[in-house]
Amino acid sequence: MTQVASNLQIDSARLWGTIHETAKFGATPKGGVRRLTLGAEDKQVRDWFKTACEAAGLEVHVDTLGSMFALRRGRDMSKPPVGLGSHLDTQPTGGKFDGVLGTLAALEVVRTLNDAGIETEIPLCIVNWTNEEGSRFAPAMMASAAYVGDFTVDDILSRKDADGVTVADALEIIGYRGDSAVGAQKFSSFIELHIEQGPILEAEGKTIGVVDSGQGLLWYDGRITGFESHAGSTPMRLRRDALATLSEIVLAMETIAKKHGPNAVGTIGEAVIAKPSRNVIPGEIAFTVDCRSADAAIMDALDADLRAATAEISARRKVEVALDLIWRKAPTRFDPKLVDAVEAAAKKLGFSHRRITSGAGHDACNLNTRIPAAMVFVPCKDGVSHNELEDATQADCTAGANVLMHTVLALAGVAS
Ligand code: GLV
Ligand code: MN
Ligand code: MN
Repeated sequence: MTQVASNLQIDSARLWGTIHETAKFGATPKGGVRRLTLGAEDKQVRDWFKTACEAAGLEVHVDTLGSMFALRRGRDMSKPPVGLGSHLDTQPTGGKFDGVLGTLAALEVVRTLNDAGIETEIPLCIVNWTNEEGSRFAPAMMASAAYVGDFTVDDILSRKDADGVTVADALEIIGYRGDSAVGAQKFSSFIELHIEQGPILEAEGKTIGVVDSGQGLLWYDGRITGFESHAGSTPMRLRRDALATLSEIVLAMETIAKKHGPNAVGTIGEAVIAKPSRNVIPGEIAFTVDCRSADAAIMDALDADLRAATAEISARRKVEVALDLIWRKAPTRFDPKLVDAVEAAAKKLGFSHRRITSGAGHDACNLNTRIPAAMVFVPCKDGVSHNELEDATQADCTAGANVLMHTVLALAGVAS
């Protein structure tokens, strides 16, 4: 197999151009992106992506959960491809880089190899995973989870958004219910480039994060049932106030996460009062909880402490609190050989780097349970993500795409 010199570089301006071109699909006035999975803007970016992949000579197919696979043939088609990619959906008030960088950098890698006339030994396959974000349909990363068999396809197809639209309906509406079976596209390995979404690389002045692990997650749906009554005439001691109860739960979550810190976080990110009115004591609230740690024992402790705290608060306040664990994802330990390959590529290209744990969940974390996977991180401004202000420099995105390309070439080999 031929070695590729480190002077093979992606086209930085072209990568930057595609990131900004696709940011118009769902652009928000504050410079961010709102591209909820399987919505109208997601269809626009998917159509753009399909056209771009086909123009780059790739064969695109779509599975029954809408994940898009774009195959670049290799010399030896008997081997499953090296996978690379991420996601193109965003948070309701998301940025231009989360998921987008990894997907469009994968396209840029292929364009660069095409321009250089490089054929790989093993084929390559770019992926755009459906619903990484999990904000319209839970859980997050549902398509890659079904890919590895953590959920059945029928279960995922039946998941509903807040308006009662199922994943199956949403796929039909945008025309992305594909005909490839979920899991049919095999991979020999998978590499995902992503912004860090945290402050470590920027603070330490490092260009590349060699991701060797990822936090586990616990997601709960909660419901508080108190009693609606008049805000003026109900004495304080007789109230069964659902919002006051939730306030205590929010603070308990904060205390519990801090107690198990620094390797633990906990967030109540959604809370909906069923029938809000200024002069009615809230009687019913639905809420969500997201707890994370890279340590499985700490995840167990977070779960136990949260359940004990809600039981105590609910008994004392005489309200019902239901807390359903809807998703548990174990911490990730990425494949050591692939992590070494990412580190070797960063070294070969002369970038400063460090090993890092991902605070966010990623499709690569799901895939790693079945196929060797690893990730490349680049810094983002002030560590901010899941925010319209999310930002990253062209130089760092370019560095990350080059590390992605040289890692992929090391894994796929170059046909001689
Ligand atoms: C995905 O973006 C997550 O980590 O929640
Ligand atoms: Mn992401
Ligand atoms: Mn995200």
